[in-house]
Amino acid sequence: MNKKIRNIPFSPPDMTEAEAKEVREAILSGWITTGPRTKKLESQIEEFINSGSRFKDQGSSDKPETYNVKPETNHTVVCLNSATAALEMVLHLLDIQPDDEVIVPAYTYTATASVTQHVGCKLVMVDSLKDNVEMDYDKLAAAITEKTKVIAPVDLGGIVADYDRVFEIVEAKKGLFKPNNALQAKIGRIVVSADCAHSFGASRKGKMAGEIADFSSFSFHAVKNFTTAEGGALTWNLPFGKEEVPTDADYMPTVPKKEGETWNEMLYRLSQLFSLHGQNKDALAKTKLGAWEYDIIGPWYKCNMTDIMAALGLVQMQRYPELLKRRQEIVEKFNEGLKGLPVAVLNHKDANHCGSHHLYLIRLLGKTREETNRVIEMMAERGIATNVHYKPLPMMTAYKALGFDIKNYPNAYHLFENEITFPLHTKLTDEDVDYIISNFVDIIKNS
Ligand SMILES: Cc1ncc(COP(=O)(O)O)c(C=O)c1O
Repeated sequence: MNKKIRNIPFSPPDMTEAEAKEVREAILSGWITTGPRTKKLESQIEEFINSGSRFKDQGSSDKPETYNVKPETNHTVVCLNSATAALEMVLHLLDIQPDDEVIVPAYTYTATASVTQHVGCKLVMVDSLKDNVEMDYDKLAAAITEKTKVIAPVDLGGIVADYDRVFEIVEAKKGLFKPNNALQAKIGRIVVSADCAHSFGASRKGKMAGEIADFSSFSFHAVKNFTTAEGGALTWNLPFGKEEVPTDADYMPTVPKKEGETWNEMLYRLSQLFSLHGQNKDALAKTKLGAWEYDIIGPWYKCNMTDIMAALGLVQMQRYPELLKRRQEIVEKFNEGLKGLPVAVLNHKDANHCGSHHLYLIRLLGKTREETNRVIEMMAERGIATNVHYKPLPMMTAYKALGFDIKNYPNAYHLFENEITFPLHTKLTDEDVDYIISNFVDIIKNS
């Protein structure tokens, strides 16, 4: 056992002089809110997701030469202030009504579920698979009714969920689906809105998170792999995205239609509106001499990304392949170091998939929550910050008040009862990683 105590935080941001320089330039550029840097980041994210073949299923080891910034993007990415805003945006774009049902896993962070309450529709929760952090897909199928409009699977720990199963289910239940408007009718089945808060850069069967589900919401919060301090992005992937919206489409009467606009362009325009008070001119457009006049199309939200945040993102984007590679190395070291212990860990990579290596979840087999908490304390006494992912939502006050009861989610409880999450970030040195492993092994063997 190591005698000298190290101080290992759970997930500090990995920032360099390059981020500081770009932020400084943004601050002094004369434009600090949503503007050219945000647009550039959107374009780079689109490029990263849609041409991510160099990353696919192989651990993102190659550094891309450049991310081409196209003057005209396909408009399938919008940067916002969080993944929560992105998840909520999906419900607005679909014009979800109070009677509509949205299905989410019980084993997730509150944001996946809370957005249903923000828009005022019905929340339905589904238990996990046994000993697997994904939703129980049979229970998911059984929870679908003719009011179900959206399913929100979660790529927990950065591992892309089994969307093949989810799409099989929504296709099989197509007959039940009752669209409320032209967009829902065009999709023609329950919409799959992926919570990709953890999975930026992850892939499954050769497709990147962001090009699998209908809508994907990424988080760039300070503890995430890729960060803009706070921040997030919504992407969509609709086969008809480049088709023109028919002029007679029955879709949100308060939103004026634009001649010749494609579905992608309309969703992009609407997500700008939803994120900027429903104001039809953004701050940049209003700075044009004499162009002060604007209209408010709907009494909407304020959740845009600023160019200062985007400046961080532009540099993180250049560094991201290296950051992902380092995370993968650390996970491999943890996997090796924990071999032979009575624990179960997530499968971050195999022939079919490569996660973003965001969270190292460990289950201490046979231990209770109290015993696991004692391990967390002993790790803390040795200077190692750990965490728990997740206390299932039906155990939280807010969701209990909505009528959810953990008794109905035994598998989610089972995942939680002995879970501990290691620090996993790119500020960890190899010595830190060895220190975490040796202390953990010592604690487990002697407790
Ligand atoms: C699974 C999951 N979904 C959504 C979110 C919300 O992300 P944000 O903080 O960017 O809104 C988080 C945040 O940690 C998360 O873990």
